[in-house]
Amino acid sequence: MSPYTEDELKAKIHGGYILESPEEMTPGYRKAIIVQLTVQADTELMSAPAYWLAARHAPSTNTQVSAHAIIQDELAHANIAYRLLEDMGVSKEKLVYGREPHEFKHPYGFDQPLDNWAELVVANGFFDRAGICLLGDVHRNTSYGPLKRALVKVDMEETFHLRHGEVWMRRLARAGGAATELLQRCVDWMFPMTIEWFGLPDGLKRHSGQLNYKLKGLTNDELRQLWMSSTVPLCEGLGLKVPAHYDEQKEEYVLEYPFPCEYDPEVKRWLFEDGEITWQAVFERWKGRGPMNERYVESVRRSRGVVGSWLN
Ligand SMILES: [Fe+2]
Ligand SMILES: [Fe+2]
Repeated sequence: MSPYTEDELKAKIHGGYILESPEEMTPGYRKAIIVQLTVQADTELMSAPAYWLAARHAPSTNTQVSAHAIIQDELAHANIAYRLLEDMGVSKEKLVYGREPHEFKHPYGFDQPLDNWAELVVANGFFDRAGICLLGDVHRNTSYGPLKRALVKVDMEETFHLRHGEVWMRRLARAGGAATELLQRCVDWMFPMTIEWFGLPDGLKRHSGQLNYKLKGLTNDELRQLWMSSTVPLCEGLGLKVPAHYDEQKEEYVLEYPFPCEYDPEVKRWLFEDGEITWQAVFERWKGRGPMNERYVESVRRSRGVVGSWLN
């Protein structure tokens, strides 16, 4: 039982108070942080099979080892978040092994196949950067002490993932020809995918438990801007086209396509020409999950059952 009412706890938090144990949490706080940590843990966990399948396309032994080092970090990040959930009485066992694949809470982007080395490194450059924007904000602002401390390690490792993406994007951009074309093709589907990842625009969002309890500091739109403020200049500097630019008058980045819009996962293409769709339609697409959802979940669970059932 928390010693505080909801209002007392919110007032304390906004005065700078940091919670150190689940016993201090009110039901509202507990619910909000469980949602936040489940999304965080599931995202880290599902990045592992996505990156693992893509790492097969590494151009050499040493580059594949770099990719595997990233995957090892992601599994550790997932474990940190699931471990914090266990402190709150949520079973890690149930979360990892007891849910249907569609019940995982990771973003739609990690339901997509990464089919070549370029897609892996753009995922590092885009998706891991989204992770840094989101988790860096949580690190700076969270009112939960154990999470704040755990994110020090996560932040440093995510920076390595991002650098890996940037270095390789630069190499592919400079190579010219087919390598650069492939890179542009990745950017074409992965840029809008990451933009959508940040969720509902602030104007449509009714309330945020995560902001009320200071589980994060920035709104969805602020995080989207933060991500574009480094991604757009990076791409422009590499000669890559992105469907967004900085608007001097508005003093913010603006998208050059209908947002949100529909996505065709079979051909990895956003249907800009069909115009804007509702967020309800986006939520339905997310709920229906993407093409790799079941395979990725199975991929992290399969060595657990009867030994040998996975041979050949
Ligand atoms: Fe991570
Ligand atoms: Fe990462």
